[in-house]
Amino acid sequence: MRPKEVTWTKLRRHWQEINTWPCYRGRWLGQLGYSFAKLIYRLGQVKSPTQLLELAGFHPGEALEGFERWERLLRVAAERIERAGGNQGAISYEDGLILYGLVRGLKPRCVVETGTGPGLATSFLGAALVENRAGELYTIDLPVESGQQIRLEDGGALDWPARGLGWAIPAPLRKALGTRLKMLRGDVREVLPKLLGTLPALDLFFHDDLHTPAHMLWEYELVWPYLSPGGILISDDANFAWLRFCWRVGLRRYASPNWRRLTLARKPGDVPHVIRRRVA
Ligand SMILES: C[S@@+](CC[C@H](N)C(=O)[O-])C[C@H]1O[C@@H](n2cnc3c(N)ncnc32)[C@H](O)[C@@H]1O
Repeated sequence: MRPKEVTWTKLRRHWQEINTWPCYRGRWLGQLGYSFAKLIYRLGQVKSPTQLLELAGFHPGEALEGFERWERLLRVAAERIERAGGNQGAISYEDGLILYGLVRGLKPRCVVETGTGPGLATSFLGAALVENRAGELYTIDLPVESGQQIRLEDGGALDWPARGLGWAIPAPLRKALGTRLKMLRGDVREVLPKLLGTLPALDLFFHDDLHTPAHMLWEYELVWPYLSPGGILISDDANFAWLRFCWRVGLRRYASPNWRRLTLARKPGDVPHVIRRRVA
């Protein structure tokens, strides 16, 4: 193919991609924002998952301590999801490695995840909490009846409900987590504001539910004031909403670095109590 044809093919593909999302269809400003963000994330792509851990202030070797004890179980969980086929919506294994490292590095008292789906992210976050021997994990998803396919407002059509919420979380991990894992069912727009008001602390938040820019911005801005100083906000499938959020709250250094659009920002200020105690 000649270079000109390659460019046209890429542009056509990009156009088709935008138009599969109902929230962008026919919205020129939104489409422009989506394209701009994609370019920024391409330029800001880090070279490895461990580089993102370093950006958050953690030594990868220390943050990934104990991972070898969970590696086989987590790999099997990821493979089961892949074998299940359809669209399960799960994160990648490498994204999971980042989540594990962040929880091990930060030692959060409380983690909140939106979008449980088949439970792969829940598994990585949970394994790290078990290794920490501290902390709780709240994970929120819709109250979907088993057997349904679910079509989201962002256009995604997910197949995990055929197997149940969090179906891929390995049984030994579930057992080890015990009451540390709290699976909440309901629309995030109702459950999250109520939950935030009841938590004694929020040290780590992971967004992975509805990926419309308006919803994502709402979620980041809702959570940010509740996050402890030194706490971490992570987003999967970052789009223009992440850039807007980082600019609005003065976090430009976190706007573009990403691992395949998994992004994070660390709240300025003192580090949470757990880390202070360890350093002292
Ligand atoms: C991308 S999947 C999550 C995958 C999961 N993090 C994993 O790694 O296995 C997105 C999930 O968000 C949930 N979701 C979408 N809109 C939601 C809403 N308004 N409230 C709660 N959950 C929602 C969907 O049901 C779906 O399970």
